Amino acid sequence: MKCKICKATAQVALKSHNAAFCPECYKDFFARQVERGIKGAPGPDGRHGEPLFTRDERILVALSGGKDSLALMLELSRQGYDVTGLFVDLAIPGSSDVARAVVERFCQAHGLKLRIVDLTAEGLAIPLVKERLRRPVCSVCGKVKRHVFNRAALDGGFDAIATGHNLDDEVARLFSNTLRWDTAYLSDQGPLLPAQPGFARKVKPLWRLTEFETANYAFLMGIEHHHAPCPYSPGASFTTLKGVLQRLEAAMPGRKLDFYQGFLARGKAAFSRQEEDTGAGLAPCVRCGSPTSSGELCGVCRIRLAVAEGATA
Ligand code: FES
Ligand code: ZN
Repeated sequence: MKCKICKATAQVALKSHNAAFCPECYKDFFARQVERGIKGAPGPDGRHGEPLFTRDERILVALSGGKDSLALMLELSRQGYDVTGLFVDLAIPGSSDVARAVVERFCQAHGLKLRIVDLTAEGLAIPLVKERLRRPVCSVCGKVKRHVFNRAALDGGFDAIATGHNLDDEVARLFSNTLRWDTAYLSDQGPLLPAQPGFARKVKPLWRLTEFETANYAFLMGIEHHHAPCPYSPGASFTTLKGVLQRLEAAMPGRKLDFYQGFLARGKAAFSRQEEDTGAGLAPCVRCGSPTSSGELCGVCRIRLAVAEGATA
């Protein structure tokens, strides 16, 4: 098989794009897809909507140690964006320490800025949360991470927080939200969630690229990553749905991207919330300032308090 661009021996074949690439041309392909992703999702007229961010803005990239977020960070820096990595140390033995070392080495090797938030110092080490609260730890952990990303972006004066969610993550989430007809989630889903009072802008620049495509890029760029699953959540999220979608894609190459782009262009608007639904009834948490609708303390500050007191939240 020959590279579609330069006719050298191809190493990566992509059925959905009906193309194969040599390593160098593949990196260009990946870069173009990220660029197109940053230009924004298509509107009903098929043209790009609002860009995710610009070159003048400061972007905080959430790094887990996995290939997607590291690939995102590297590609954005190669394209000249002002990026800073953010690693949240969950303090899970045998997992967080390995991921943290991977992220630190990666940022050092590529001369990239990195900030680390240590949940132990915040009184929110995940093993302690797991021990003290009688609630599924993964949902609490997800909530804490989102909270920390948001605070770090706002407190650090960043314009947006970027995550490494890829097309497979997004399509699985869309499919899951659709199966439940969860209109609130459907109204918010997409590669760009604009800032709101107390909430930083959230962006997903890899939304056009599949897990396979990102994995190839990470491999060709020699990115060392951490792939051990979290010991508290054995199955990756949406495993079943991803399997179903994988079979669909194998039978109909390109369908995943069409489904997602079609939703963004023509489906999403049907679920958009009324103005009064957004931000209504939110007041700043008295401890950390994050918007909350549940009294004086926000959800995460209540978790912190419950953990400190050793009680059940
Ligand atoms: Fe948070 Fe596993 S519980 S990553
Ligand atoms: Zn709070």
